[in-house]
Amino acid sequence: SILVLDFGGQYNQLIARRVREANVYCEVKPCTISLDEIIAGNYRGIIFTGGPASVYAEGAPRVDAGVFSLGIPILGICYGAQLTAFTLGGKVSSGATALTREYGKTPLTLSESRLFTGIPAETSCWMSHGDYISELPAGFCATGATPGCPFAALEDPERDIYAVQFHPEVLHTPEGMAMIRNFLYGVCGCTGTWQMSSFVDNMVMHLREKIGDKKVLCALSGGVDSSVAAVLVHKAVGKQLTCIFVDHGLLRKNEGDEVEEVFRNQYDINLIRVNAEDRFLAKLAGVSDPEQKRKIIGAEFIRVFEEEAKKIGTVDFLVQGTIYPDVIESGPGNAAVIKSHHNVGGLPDHVDFKEIIEPLRILFKDEVRAAGAELGIPENLVWRQPFPGPGLAIRVIGDITKDKLDILRDADAIFREEVAAAGLGRAINQYFAALTNMRSVGVMGDERTYDYAVALRAVTTTDFMTADWAQIPYPVLEKISGRIINEVRHVNRVLYDITSKPPATIEYE
Ligand code: XMP
Repeated sequence: SILVLDFGGQYNQLIARRVREANVYCEVKPCTISLDEIIAGNYRGIIFTGGPASVYAEGAPRVDAGVFSLGIPILGICYGAQLTAFTLGGKVSSGATALTREYGKTPLTLSESRLFTGIPAETSCWMSHGDYISELPAGFCATGATPGCPFAALEDPERDIYAVQFHPEVLHTPEGMAMIRNFLYGVCGCTGTWQMSSFVDNMVMHLREKIGDKKVLCALSGGVDSSVAAVLVHKAVGKQLTCIFVDHGLLRKNEGDEVEEVFRNQYDINLIRVNAEDRFLAKLAGVSDPEQKRKIIGAEFIRVFEEEAKKIGTVDFLVQGTIYPDVIESGPGNAAVIKSHHNVGGLPDHVDFKEIIEPLRILFKDEVRAAGAELGIPENLVWRQPFPGPGLAIRVIGDITKDKLDILRDADAIFREEVAAAGLGRAINQYFAALTNMRSVGVMGDERTYDYAVALRAVTTTDFMTADWAQIPYPVLEKISGRIINEVRHVNRVLYDITSKPPATIEYE
């Protein structure tokens, strides 16, 4: 496999994604890992990522210089390239002129290199740097140049050390993927056999061995991750798995039944569906503060789950749908709490079990979807949008009633139906309706109305940390608005949210 050494740049996960896309398995590790760990990993190649720092900055991330003497091929990208040059005796300077501080699409001239096999000599690349490499280390030659960077690509082919100032991992570098492939296959000798079908087969075998004849419990939310994890474990050990699905009455239209249909009927999984709508709505009655709503739902969820789990008794394993980005991002020193997120991650403290199983721990989101497809999970579930643990409770602004939830469910179903019908479903990463707590005056059939305003929210994003509002064509919006007004009672106004994140968040509460 390949080691991606993380220096803190913004495209680090993308680099790992590109490697996996080339069907080569890779792991992302912080640059602080020891030389011994690197050796123990038996890697075929190492990629240094970019990073926000200057190599001269105090506390700039470094790597044990011994890494360059292991005989393992190295590809340094951006900061990783500067660090390589700097550590091996070259010179890095800060961009003094506008030309040397390149940002964006930049013409690139390449010369002969194993990294650039099959790539035209005149191409372009994506640049994002202030500092630049101004002197080559001994043994290195330049293999690429841009107007601002005489050493945009450099290498010591004897030692198999390569470095590029630009970002081959972003799509704005048209030949970037070809360069990454050249590094993986041509330089490192990887074979490109990492595939979802073999992941599924291996994981099923591994789970069978690990679980033996013991009992496994899974909290099923109906989301992609917990669903794929459950189906994988079920494939391995069948009826030894029990899934608990807490229906808190805050799900979207027909969602609870759809989950039940897939898991009970299609897969014949032991499924306990707890219909807890009344309990949740009773606890939420009259509560309008967003954080309080979230806390009530989180606490009640744990209580309901605990009660069900107690009926089952001690289990040996608890399945969690942890995926790779959760593992990478769960480092220390994370940002301020904007919202107290609720998901099933907090369960382990409340369930009697011996060990956690995380079958998706090494997969990225799109790989989880691919694994789900491989396992025959229906498309609508595999491509399900992210849905918050507190469900529609945080999409009904203010206090929650069953009536408001039903209005929202109907409006939201129409919105989603029409977006899908317009073929926009995959291009928009998350879209839903919210029920504003605002009522306003309208006129319908010569009558005065005083009813709710529904807000439509649709965003494009890759990481859900930032997002742009999606530019749904007017005719599609027109149709959605018309249908909602005509088909959903007590809605007399439809608003389209044109706020990006930041400053707004994706959800309303
Ligand atoms: P925000 O509203 O913070 O949402 O911009 C970012 C992403 O997170 C989802 N979200 C949640 N997911 N439990 C979850 O599992 C939660 O409590 C929660 N709150 C927000 C949201 O849908 C979006 O995808």
